[in-house]
Amino acid sequence: MGPDVSWWRGAVVYQVYPRSFADGNGDGVGDLAGIESRLPYLRDLGVDALWINPWYVSPMADGGYDVADYRAIDPVFGTLWDAERLIRAAHRHGLRIIADIVPNHVSDRHPWFRAALAAAPGSPERARFHFRDEPNNWRSRFGGPAWTRLGDGQWYLHLFDAAQPDLNWDHPEVRAEFEAVLRFWLDRGVDGFRIDVADRLVKEAGLPDRPVRETGAPGFGSDGPRPQPDKDRPEVHGIYRAWRRVLDEYPDRAFVGEMWVTDPDRFAMYLRPDELHTAFNFAFLKCAWDAGALREVVDRTLATHAGVGAPPTWVLSNHDVTRHATRYGRADTGFVKRVHDVPSDRALGVRRARAAALLSMALPGSAYVYQGDELGLPEVFDLPAAAREDPVFRRTGGADLGRDGCRVPLPWGGDAAPFEFGAGGSWLPQPADWRDLTAARQLGDPASMLSLYRLALRVRRGEAALGDGPMRWLDLGEGVLGFARDPGFACVVNLSGRPAALPEGAPLVASAELGGPAGRLLPPDAAVWLRT
Ligand code: NOJ
Repeated sequence: MGPDVSWWRGAVVYQVYPRSFADGNGDGVGDLAGIESRLPYLRDLGVDALWINPWYVSPMADGGYDVADYRAIDPVFGTLWDAERLIRAAHRHGLRIIADIVPNHVSDRHPWFRAALAAAPGSPERARFHFRDEPNNWRSRFGGPAWTRLGDGQWYLHLFDAAQPDLNWDHPEVRAEFEAVLRFWLDRGVDGFRIDVADRLVKEAGLPDRPVRETGAPGFGSDGPRPQPDKDRPEVHGIYRAWRRVLDEYPDRAFVGEMWVTDPDRFAMYLRPDELHTAFNFAFLKCAWDAGALREVVDRTLATHAGVGAPPTWVLSNHDVTRHATRYGRADTGFVKRVHDVPSDRALGVRRARAAALLSMALPGSAYVYQGDELGLPEVFDLPAAAREDPVFRRTGGADLGRDGCRVPLPWGGDAAPFEFGAGGSWLPQPADWRDLTAARQLGDPASMLSLYRLALRVRRGEAALGDGPMRWLDLGEGVLGFARDPGFACVVNLSGRPAALPEGAPLVASAELGGPAGRLLPPDAAVWLRT
């Protein structure tokens, strides 16, 4: 048998946050028709697959991560018919579709939870959730307690918003239901699933208190001391083994897990050959813009994944974190939790984001692009409070501005908001200076972020034939990251603060103008791909 060249081992996956991608019907909110209309853009960008954040029927208490019906599309996005058409159209454009499955919790409007509310304490309807007469000390990931009290005195558990009751995964009906939901979408042609909070489904029996109370603002950056009773329980792996058996009935499908599990050995357990195919690499996302730290993360990532034969992923941003073009322009470039009162040097952030794009697409494995990163969009901090929708903002009393600032609708063209996002405004206001960042404007500028992404993705797929495979470090001096891949490819990233001499090789793509008389000097905070 030759090497495994399954698509998911080396895919570049573009994350579509549907509310903010493109609005086809002019109601100010993105939708499936909008996505379909922009498929040519995505094909020409050169990505391989789209991960679409939840599109299901939802009251949108958490941007769609509160699902009321897993087998239907929310009317704001379209219909099931539209979803089936989008899947087919994407496939015609050579793009795979990864749906988002949300198994830890449902919406409080889900029929199961409504039935549980209508039923008595101790009823079978309540057994699908975690109802208790007394709460424990767990905190919601969005701030505040993880328990809400009902009129009859019982409390229910929600690790996120009160509108997102946690399911009881010890219940056989819960397990059977999600396997059926997987099949429902596999039968409609989706190529895989992104699994929301994949590490938290199973809770420790008896729901004991957390040993140490969480301190500080809640967020996505840390998973606290371990072991914890509400995450990464060993029994969760049985769920993914069962899911893998379902997926394996369909050819060429793949899972990507969302686990904020920092211990590499525990993380790797989810990627064993009979569990998930891939998982988001948040260690890379959180890493500071520092050569030593990045090299360490890359080494650790490669070792962790090699142990289980899974391809690494390289993730810079998503819909939950501060956009990296903003993070990288700060004095402290690492991501621990969202902060909003810290200055960022826009030019420096963009420069580093360009270099980081080349780094992430050259490393072995699969890479993720969050919508708008290919336009170099910054985080938006000055949204009016009344426009903010993220429950994090509300539950922390505004101490954490939440995630709306990375979810502002995309600027596609034109000189004024909503920048061709749609015909009817945009659900979050776009900054006026995004007129210089529209896709249309960037397409005409060979020096733009969009042109860099398009060129890099073409080279990645074409002459450099990157994707999964081995790499070896090159010794290029302090602060300079360099690695080679066969056949005849090298990537150099200069984090040293002074120009770095390039090793031999003809430049294929560079994130900045090369310097020196022969064009052999790589400026600081820049990256280049070489044919060697
Ligand atoms: C992780 C998702 O990425 C985030 O957006 C959501 O709020 C939580 N899971 C809860 O579903």
